[in-house]
Amino acid sequence: APSVNVTRLLQMKAAGEVIACLTAYDHSLACVVDEAGVDVILVGDTLGMVIQGHETTLSVSVDDVIYHTRCVAAAHRRALIMADMPFMSYLDEATALRNAGRLMQEGGARMVKLEGTADQVSIVAALARAGVPVCAHLGLLPQRIHKLGGYKVQGRDRTSAHAMIDDAHALEAAGADLLLVECIPAALGERLAHELRIPVIGIGAGSGCDGQILVLQDLLGITPGRPPRFAKDFMTGAGNVQTAVQEYVAAVKARRFPDEEHCF
Ligand code: KIV
Ligand code: NA
Repeated sequence: APSVNVTRLLQMKAAGEVIACLTAYDHSLACVVDEAGVDVILVGDTLGMVIQGHETTLSVSVDDVIYHTRCVAAAHRRALIMADMPFMSYLDEATALRNAGRLMQEGGARMVKLEGTADQVSIVAALARAGVPVCAHLGLLPQRIHKLGGYKVQGRDRTSAHAMIDDAHALEAAGADLLLVECIPAALGERLAHELRIPVIGIGAGSGCDGQILVLQDLLGITPGRPPRFAKDFMTGAGNVQTAVQEYVAAVKARRFPDEEHCF
């Protein structure tokens, strides 16, 4: 099958086909994920937690993400490979361009993702001008955990919901190709997907988004400690990893996941 690209993601949104996304950090699991029909593989900075054992994503370096992106991108994939830009790696335009270039050239990423609000508009625009496909990440921003003071639902009140909608429009206008929203009320996720031209991928953001993403370890039920409320263990009952990932893809495509229990 031909590789997924930005054009294909836009076609999927237009056709109402839900985009199934999942993280992976190594070759064996990336094979399972790709073969299960996942459309976008994220080499997320959650690798700081699930691979490196840290409490947050803050200590992850560009070199760490490049290493894991190479592991995932070494073999041909149908899925679009997206790499996270770590904390402090997109402080200004020049820094962002250099690091995004490395993630693509050295890592083999086909898209980069950065956590940002309207404050990051000039950075997204610079990347877009340079031909770097970009996913903007709104809602709960784990790289700002020490400012947020905890992993909490974002955009609950009118003011913060409207600010997020304005940020999303500004990022789309700046040239973002994709929007990822984390931990927001389901109604806000649905509204963003409706208002934006670009696909909106949700995690803990309701079933009205254009796509869904999970951390692979959460899906497999092997997250150390307490998994987030929006995560679902697909391994119980599946019997093997391949079936669990296939079940996730099928549930996402049929809008069976997330259900009420996994939404805010
Ligand atoms: O790093 C990550 O895994 C993420 C999540 C939103 C899936 O950014
Ligand atoms: Na991330």
